[in-house]
Amino acid sequence: MPSDKNNKIPFNEDNYTHNIERNNERKLDRRGFMKTLVGAAGVFAISSLPWGMVAAKELMGLGEKEYPHKKITDVSKLAIGDAMNFKFPGDHDDAILIRLSEKKYVAYQNACTHLRCPVFWVKEEGEMICPCHHGKFDVETGVPTAGPPRRPLPEIQVKVENGAVYAVRVKRYEV
Ligand code: FES
Repeated sequence: MPSDKNNKIPFNEDNYTHNIERNNERKLDRRGFMKTLVGAAGVFAISSLPWGMVAAKELMGLGEKEYPHKKITDVSKLAIGDAMNFKFPGDHDDAILIRLSEKKYVAYQNACTHLRCPVFWVKEEGEMICPCHHGKFDVETGVPTAGPPRRPLPEIQVKVENGAVYAVRVKRYEV
């Protein structure tokens, strides 16, 4: 029975592997690889630039953070001179709102800047007190006035709108 194979090279070639030029192929590969690498690095650098700026700002504490505005209370529910606790910006971030006059409200994150004990508003003394190590803070500015704390309490900017008080953003500590 005749076979399909004649065991002959199909066409006359002295180098049957003529299409594989190893050295050149390697050079191309290396060059191609470098091009890809540089291209990818460039794309990465450019695409990450905005985030880099955000991170740098964040690390340097220059930015003020604006969060979705959060209603703290109705104006009618907080008498002048009184305070109330709320959470801002996250559900685990303790904060305190104090109504100083008809229209003036101040709010701070109320973890003491010494060792993070909760800070209380003492109406009679007109000061915010940290009971842990007798720290005190100025209610108008959040600046420490006594005890071990050295940094002010981070202030929360509030706004009054349609009879309600909203937390707007956390003001950063300025050096
Ligand atoms: S934790 Fe507030 S004074 Fe130490």
